[in-house]
Amino acid sequence: MTTHSTTNESHTAADRVFAPPAADDVGADRWLIDDAATYERMHAESVADPATFYGTIAKELHWFNDWDSVVEFESPDAVWFKGATTNLCQNCVDRHVADGFGDEIGLIWEGEPVGTNGPEVRALSYAELQKDISRFANALKTAGVRESDVVTIYMGMVPELAIACLACARIGAAHSVIFGGFAAHSIVDRGKDASSIVIVTCDGAWRRGSIVPLKANVDEAVAVLDGAVDKVICLKRTNNDIGWDDSRDIWWHVAVEAEPDECPCAELDSEATAFLLYTSGSTGKPKGIKHTVGGYMVHTYLTSKYVFNMIPGLDEPNRDAPLPNGQVYWCTADIGWITGHSYIVYGPMANRVPTLMYEGAPNFPEADRFWDIVERHKVTQFYTAPTAIRAFMKWGDEHVTKHDLSSLQVLGSVGEPINPEAWMWYRTHIGRGVCPIVDTWWQTETGGQMLTTLPGVHTTKPGSCGLPFFGVDAAICEDDGTEIPEGSGLLTIRKPWPSMLRGIYGDRDRFIETYWNTFDVDGAVSEGRPSPYYLAGDGAQRDADGYFWITGRSDDVINVSGHRMGTAEVESSLVAHPAVVEAAVVGMPHEIKGTGIAAFVTLSPESAPADKHAVEALKKALRTHVGDEIGAIAKPDLIRFTDALPKTRSGKIMRRLLRDIAAGRETSQDTTTLEDKSVLEKLRGED
Ligand code: WTA
Repeated sequence: MTTHSTTNESHTAADRVFAPPAADDVGADRWLIDDAATYERMHAESVADPATFYGTIAKELHWFNDWDSVVEFESPDAVWFKGATTNLCQNCVDRHVADGFGDEIGLIWEGEPVGTNGPEVRALSYAELQKDISRFANALKTAGVRESDVVTIYMGMVPELAIACLACARIGAAHSVIFGGFAAHSIVDRGKDASSIVIVTCDGAWRRGSIVPLKANVDEAVAVLDGAVDKVICLKRTNNDIGWDDSRDIWWHVAVEAEPDECPCAELDSEATAFLLYTSGSTGKPKGIKHTVGGYMVHTYLTSKYVFNMIPGLDEPNRDAPLPNGQVYWCTADIGWITGHSYIVYGPMANRVPTLMYEGAPNFPEADRFWDIVERHKVTQFYTAPTAIRAFMKWGDEHVTKHDLSSLQVLGSVGEPINPEAWMWYRTHIGRGVCPIVDTWWQTETGGQMLTTLPGVHTTKPGSCGLPFFGVDAAICEDDGTEIPEGSGLLTIRKPWPSMLRGIYGDRDRFIETYWNTFDVDGAVSEGRPSPYYLAGDGAQRDADGYFWITGRSDDVINVSGHRMGTAEVESSLVAHPAVVEAAVVGMPHEIKGTGIAAFVTLSPESAPADKHAVEALKKALRTHVGDEIGAIAKPDLIRFTDALPKTRSGKIMRRLLRDIAAGRETSQDTTTLEDKSVLEKLRGED
């Protein structure tokens, strides 16, 4: 079935380069920047004099009042646009209405189910969005939400998810969006950590033809949170049966019915909290990454503009075929992840380019769904994850070739390193052999893209995420902060950037310890001060042209299908199972997911399975258990039972050894310190 070529490209990747195409070649009006000299000048200016650079860019957006200074930084604390006030929703919606573009389409949404008349499609103009957001913002106020409160949002990919985020932004509440694929447990942890009293959810979400029971998960979480949650606002989407508590639950449509469709945008301090987004770290407890209004807005606006060459539509909107002559931008991420926050909602909307949201799975009802969407909506910029590309490669080229993808101008990749073979397939089969691919490296913590090529400017190399974006002073350094100009080491950012995280919610020590405690620049770390350099947590190499190549995480975080997962989270879920005494989780190579999850598990003697069937049944039970506790993405791909885990004499689990075993490689770890040598043989032996 698979018809793509499978030449082994990885060893030749470094030699392969593709010059940027002319705008005409991909059907674009123009490239906003089309020469390397301009990029180099702008990059040099942005790093040398951020005040002038960002001060000028920020003026393209709306501020209620001006700043006293553009940036002040005393590690690890940055203040961007000090003293200025602004509003993200105002800039994403109201600004466009005020400028006369109220009728233009800002958001296009396509539902997953396909009826006899095709899928359900909604196209919302900025004027409609303004009203819907205002109504919901008023409903949040009625529910008791005040400025700087945290609102938990746990929804499927429906327009109301974007509307709920923007409504929070409008009134200065911080949203904390929880990915709909996470289980009830995650709502408990995050809700408690953020003291959130209002949860916005749906009755259910469509996923590959089935209903994900979101409201039921919320009910389970609310029961555990025991009275801490005042209100649950529930959108009716899937019409499944749900539990209901009249004193606490209210339907979305009922909540907005009585509300006026006007609500002022709060004048927020540039450094007010815009949102929290929980992400996995090295310990079992997810970190509430905090982002603030002004800097986040400027960086997501600026990166969207230049990385995706966003040019606002000039034509009259046409409701049957939204903006056929303009751009339609589509990012396939879920808004539950940072990619969706920055590059479905805030970045594109601030640029006045219609953003497309798709509700469901890439292979529903058929394996051509993405390309069907691209063709019907005439998508111009397409942003996805390597794991999706690898899945499409596997499903077969025929699902692609039957669609007209000639509208595409720029392709993007994010979330994990893209293997050169997938990169080539993406370019050849989706990009017609001509569209530039922007491989964007960034993180929940960075808020926006940091390393990338620009589509009209740079030569691309399959597998490399390119060069630092404007304002980004990236380097590869040794522990003392000495730069390694060429070669591999730890990736760092040496100067503050506008959308940098402003902390881990409620845990300053962990914030400093995790990100600002490695590079001993000017003796900072040895003297107990935070380092001025940010530790990204990724290893990287830089080649002779200055291009960065990400080699993977340098901590105990793995990237499963581009989703960040802490191995400690999976381990603590496993040991919570009554049969498990100890567990060690590591990443292993996986054809589609990039990295899969391997779990080495020691069972209690009384739980030892009697035969092969019992082994399989217990493995299944453990996978289900982890799925119920964390979510399906955390289910181990490989479980191996072992009498003992390989440990050093000081009791440390030898993780590199386990990684090698999971990958079926000879180990590169020195095993002389292994306490019990027989463990190694046993681990290798069992299937
Ligand atoms: C990885 C996602 C290689 C990296 C935006 C990073 C990448 C982590 C790339 C952040 C890329 C992201 N090439 N690796 N283009 N983009 N990563 O917080 O390990 O979900 O640290 O943010 O994904 O994942 P997060």
